[in-house]
Amino acid sequence: MKKVILTGDRPTGKLHLGHYIGSLKNRVRLQNTYDQFVMIADVQALTDNAENPEKVRDNILEVAMGYLMAGIDPKKTTIFVQSLVPQIAELTVFFLNLVTVARLQKNPTVKEEMKQKGFKNSVPAGFFMYPVSQAADILSMKADLVPAGADQVPMVEQANEIGQKFNRLYRPTFSKVGTLVGDVPRLPGTDGKNKMSKSLGNCVYLSDSPAEIKKKVMSMYTDPGHVRITDPGKVKGNIVFVYLDAFDPDKREVAKLKNQYQKGGLGDVELKKRLIRVLENLIGPMRKKREALLKDKKSLQKILRAGTEKARARAAETMKEVRKAMKIDYKI
Ligand code: TRP
Repeated sequence: MKKVILTGDRPTGKLHLGHYIGSLKNRVRLQNTYDQFVMIADVQALTDNAENPEKVRDNILEVAMGYLMAGIDPKKTTIFVQSLVPQIAELTVFFLNLVTVARLQKNPTVKEEMKQKGFKNSVPAGFFMYPVSQAADILSMKADLVPAGADQVPMVEQANEIGQKFNRLYRPTFSKVGTLVGDVPRLPGTDGKNKMSKSLGNCVYLSDSPAEIKKKVMSMYTDPGHVRITDPGKVKGNIVFVYLDAFDPDKREVAKLKNQYQKGGLGDVELKKRLIRVLENLIGPMRKKREALLKDKKSLQKILRAGTEKARARAAETMKEVRKAMKIDYKI
């Protein structure tokens, strides 16, 4: 039997290079050897977008398109919509009894997001407890592995705590889950300061036009001390090199360029032109695929419908086991 992957994304915007290098690339590679489930996490997206359900709704197809653009093959990977698998919500309710409020307050990812969103004392309870819901996402599919960005490591840790507690209290039901973080766990945004994130406006999207790619790369920060071409430049913290390291398939050439840059004699514009080419080679084919997908939304919907049915059947099996383990499989 193949091992199982469960991972997912909140549908709050288009997918970008941070998603690609942090997780999508791994998913594309692993779909051949794992039974892979990829979830469009609309319920989780609503935990801080309750007043904006249209945004969540509109981005479901966007995210689904992003998956296919990046190379996820619906014949190998099951793509599904979280809210259409109600068993996950059911499992969340049972799991909530296995977690303390104090433990939830310690989740570093939630802590950071709460700060970023400026919730202070008005954090929605649903948002506060979403790691429990995410544990239910992962364990309802009986996953072995979660390929995701570095910020998801604490989520998987908490899912394991919940799963182990369930096993101890009731009956061994869930196995230990691992996380697989991509080549670049926290890709900085084009501003070079923060993680690439839609809310910070520093993203290169998988659907960007050649003009957008060019504009974003040309505006990237390099080394402020590198004024003249002949000046020696810094590679460390130089965002253009961070991106070349992440996306340029020719590692040897990148090493050469670094050397030349540090010695002096390599201009920022030339370097940026290379990055533009590298990104266009990656994004160009995705953009083409997107154009084709946009003309055929029916088949996208079909993929989501079939995937959701399969995920629902799997979650229903898990819930049968869960109820039995908890001795609440009433025969009435
Ligand atoms: N928390 C993830 C994000 O913010 C999305 C997500 C929801 C997820 N459920 C998941 C990721 C389960 C991995 C596994 O992008």
